[in-house]
Amino acid sequence: MEHLERILILDFGSQYTQLIARRVRELGVFSEIRPYSISPAELAQIQPRGIILSGGPASVYGAEAPLPDPALLAQDIPLLGICYGLQVIGHLCGGEVGRAPQREYGRAELQIDEAATLFDGLGDFLTVWMSHGDHLTRIPPDFRVIAHTANAPIAAIRHRHRPLYGIQFHPEVVHTPRGSELLANFVFKVCGCRGDWNASSFVERTVTEIRERVGGEQVLCALSGGVDSTVAAALVGRAVGRQLTCIFVDTGLLRENEAAEVCSFYRNADFEFRFVDASKRFLSRLAGVTDPEQKRKIIGREFIAVFEEEAARLGGVGYLVQGTLYPDVIESVSTRGPSATIKSHHNVGGLPEKMRLKLIEPLRELFKDEVRRAGRELQVPPFILGRHPFPGPGLAVRILGEITPERLAILKPADRIFMEELRRSGEYDRIWQAFAVLLPVQTVGVMGDERTYENVIALRAVTSMDGMTADWAEIPRPLLALISNRIINEVKGVNRVVYDISSKPPSTIEWE
Ligand code: XMP
Repeated sequence: MEHLERILILDFGSQYTQLIARRVRELGVFSEIRPYSISPAELAQIQPRGIILSGGPASVYGAEAPLPDPALLAQDIPLLGICYGLQVIGHLCGGEVGRAPQREYGRAELQIDEAATLFDGLGDFLTVWMSHGDHLTRIPPDFRVIAHTANAPIAAIRHRHRPLYGIQFHPEVVHTPRGSELLANFVFKVCGCRGDWNASSFVERTVTEIRERVGGEQVLCALSGGVDSTVAAALVGRAVGRQLTCIFVDTGLLRENEAAEVCSFYRNADFEFRFVDASKRFLSRLAGVTDPEQKRKIIGREFIAVFEEEAARLGGVGYLVQGTLYPDVIESVSTRGPSATIKSHHNVGGLPEKMRLKLIEPLRELFKDEVRRAGRELQVPPFILGRHPFPGPGLAVRILGEITPERLAILKPADRIFMEELRRSGEYDRIWQAFAVLLPVQTVGVMGDERTYENVIALRAVTSMDGMTADWAEIPRPLLALISNRIINEVKGVNRVVYDISSKPPSTIEWE
């Protein structure tokens, strides 16, 4: 297979490293993040068309400054240093870096002094975003200054004869409005990329790779009904068809109608599909348990047990599919500011080792929006691709205290009404995640002439980019009124509805 053209991004710990990768991919070029300490041998294996050095919080003169192998700069591969990346180039090529007289943070006007390839089509001035304490005070021999700002006399440099560039500002953030055009100049004009990375080429390439790797073996996948596992299964299904068996476990902790909805799609997919109703089993194991971590552990263990039994029935399985995404994979070894967030919420954690299965993780190079695009390419229906994330332990972390069938029977319809109204009003798609929580505290109410002592339902809806931070969603008041009214009228056992107005941090998204 032809070598996939790619841009390598070396991570020096900037909070924007992932953004650089995304911007390059938006241009249709595959990009990959690696630690700054990559060896020349690894580099030779990757054969990138170009390298971008990210920013970072360190100072090149600091005792533990992250510095790459100088051999990197001796190669013929085009290089662009951003912020700290520029200082790395300056430092390693014989220039001088010093403290800026004042830290520069925020918008700045860049004056372009030379019509370098990097600035093609961008005119003489550019609004850019700066965020630095150090700057280049003397350029290395054989380099030229190609732009400056009022506070940074050396804001961009290039090598006289080689494709080496450095910029003090951040083209990857939205506050540099034409930053993508600058990155496009680097990627296409300096590195000579064609730009043939897109959802359809990704699907085509991945399907071929999976087919070659799997050969005649059987493959297993646990479906959750969510975006990632469904798209992963659809990809593997396209590659190996009925050699793939997908198992969907009803834990009894799913949302109302959820099992039926997702099954209707899966039953028509091009892989084998098994639905396991294990709800009784889960609920009996959870009886009397109130501690949330305990609930999570029991559910995780039970899930593995059910899954193993099903796999044993199938026999001869060689591979397990997991919907791991790129943000979970990125590892950073930068000394101080690791830009990676590694999540460990996996339902099937521990399974591959226990069952001696080899892993297929077809989405491990993709960001969430790229997964959705691949899903569209694979004809996964919008009602699955647009779904809010749903935690593995399901409603168990949305009923405070003990999980009982009676409590589930209250939470499920309340949650369904909330979702129905969000969908009907179009709010659903503006929200990262929304759900109802059952608070089993008895609150007083009055219905007819009687006093009642019943439960509280809390509504939670948040906006977020990635679930790491979140803000409560401003749902219009009339809609909240309608939802509250419907829940209290239609759901027996609820006489009060409250709306959660806490952000994360300091709160979390889930209540448990
Ligand atoms: P928190 O509540 O920590 O949630 O702000 C952040 C994101 O993670 C999801 N979440 C979980 N997902 N198992 C999962 O698979 C869990 O135990 C779990 N707890 C939280 C949560 O829904 C949100 O999207």
